Amino acid sequence: MPDTMSNTNECHHFLQWALPRLGLRREGYKKVRRQVCRKIQERIGELHLPGFAGYRAYLEDHPDEWNTLDSFTRITISRFFRDYQSWRMLGDEVLPVLAQRAQKKQRVLRCWSAGCASGEEAYSLALVWHHQVSDKIPGQQIEITATDIDEHMLQRAADARYPGGSIKDVPQPLLKQSFRKKEGLYCLDHSIREMVSFLRQDIRHTMPDGPFDVIFCKNLVGMYYCRDKAVELFIKITDRLTEGGVLLIGNHEPFPIEDLPSVKIYNRGLNMYRK
Ligand SMILES: C[S@@+](CC[C@H](N)C(=O)[O-])C[C@H]1O[C@@H](n2cnc3c(N)ncnc32)[C@H](O)[C@@H]1O
Repeated sequence: MPDTMSNTNECHHFLQWALPRLGLRREGYKKVRRQVCRKIQERIGELHLPGFAGYRAYLEDHPDEWNTLDSFTRITISRFFRDYQSWRMLGDEVLPVLAQRAQKKQRVLRCWSAGCASGEEAYSLALVWHHQVSDKIPGQQIEITATDIDEHMLQRAADARYPGGSIKDVPQPLLKQSFRKKEGLYCLDHSIREMVSFLRQDIRHTMPDGPFDVIFCKNLVGMYYCRDKAVELFIKITDRLTEGGVLLIGNHEPFPIEDLPSVKIYNRGLNMYRK
């Protein structure tokens, strides 16, 4: 199916109809609609359907097809040290304070990256801990769990080899010490890779057992799920925070704080919350 203006409009109308039926938020897809439309167009071609109206009829006759469509709506863009200012605050303040508290209680510092894509966020945390924080709290252990629904993304996370665009915000000293360039890709050092455990989970059905001192839920629930679903999921996510634990949301996504009385704003500009 060619990528013409009329197909673009048809796809737009189709998504207006389909996204809410998947519990997804239309506004979240404004900037990334093209990549979702491309996948749907390929599927329409595979099924030999006449166009988006045909695909809509097909969905109505084949309820299982909704799972396939759901998989097309996953946006997997990420990079190391995304929302850079949040990482500064994390390394300078959040992690040292929470780690000292964990040390007093003689327990491991526990962190979760939800919707971790190819591991960029979880590994950024491991880098900050290893290079900036661990020396200040000698002997303190950290456990980092990272979850994603997409097996392909998790495989890429396990490979831990990244193109230049993914590592462009990694501070130079960390880049020099923890990455090795090979065949045009930046390979993350084993000592950092082994700090993160990856799990395949659909956040709508399963979440790792808490409690966690730090949870990253960035560019997933707030951005792509409709408000009711987001509130339902954020309640479960915040239930998994320790008292005083910190939740990080993407800098440019909505967070329904009015419906989440267990957390308070920690840093408004950086979309950080504390229980
Ligand atoms: C836009 S990326 C965000 C990655 C990272 N958190 C960041 O902010 O850079 C969203 C990730 O969420 C994953 N995802 C989408 N739906 C999910 C679900 N229902 N459960 C778990 N992960 C999901 C996608 O596969 C994708 O890797």
